[in-house]
Amino acid sequence: MHNVTLGWRTPVEDAELVDLTIARGGVAEPGWWDRIRPHSLGWVAARTSDDKLVGFVNVAWDGCDHAFLIDTKTHPSHQHQGLGTTVVKLAISETRSAGCEWLFVDYVADLA
Ligand SMILES: CC(C)(COP(=O)(O)OP(=O)(O)OC[C@H]1O[C@@H](n2cnc3c(N)ncnc32)[C@H](O)[C@@H]1OP(=O)(O)O)[C@@H](O)C(=O)NCCC(=O)NCCS
Repeated sequence: MHNVTLGWRTPVEDAELVDLTIARGGVAEPGWWDRIRPHSLGWVAARTSDDKLVGFVNVAWDGCDHAFLIDTKTHPSHQHQGLGTTVVKLAISETRSAGCEWLFVDYVADLA
């Protein structure tokens, strides 16, 4: 994607995830990211050249070889350009590099 940089475990502020969630029409709970981040194997942050967070996915884990892909989000301004796919692919490869053998995800049946 043009002008978007991806990072694994690069800093993301709680307030940025609140903004991204609200931009997606979701309900954001301030403090949520600060609370769950210690349980995360890692996350992918996608930023524009002016440092705006436009893509995100989190990988929670069991501290061993099982991980769970969750909270994929693309800002509406960058939707349908392959960003969600790119962010998830990086999360998969980093999770594999970290030694996880299993990466789970859930979804509703009609999005399979
Ligand atoms: C789901 C989401 C992350 C996809 O982001 P994206 O950057 O647009 O994804 P991509 O461009 O890589 O899309 C790949 C394909 O996924 C499918 N897709 C994308 N968004 C979709 C949506 N909202 N519903 C159903 N299918 C979707 C399409 O087949 C798409 O291909 P297309 O653009 O040719 O139609 C984004 O729509 C989003 O943030 N949605 C709101 C939050 C959400 O529901 N997150 C998942 C659960 S927490």
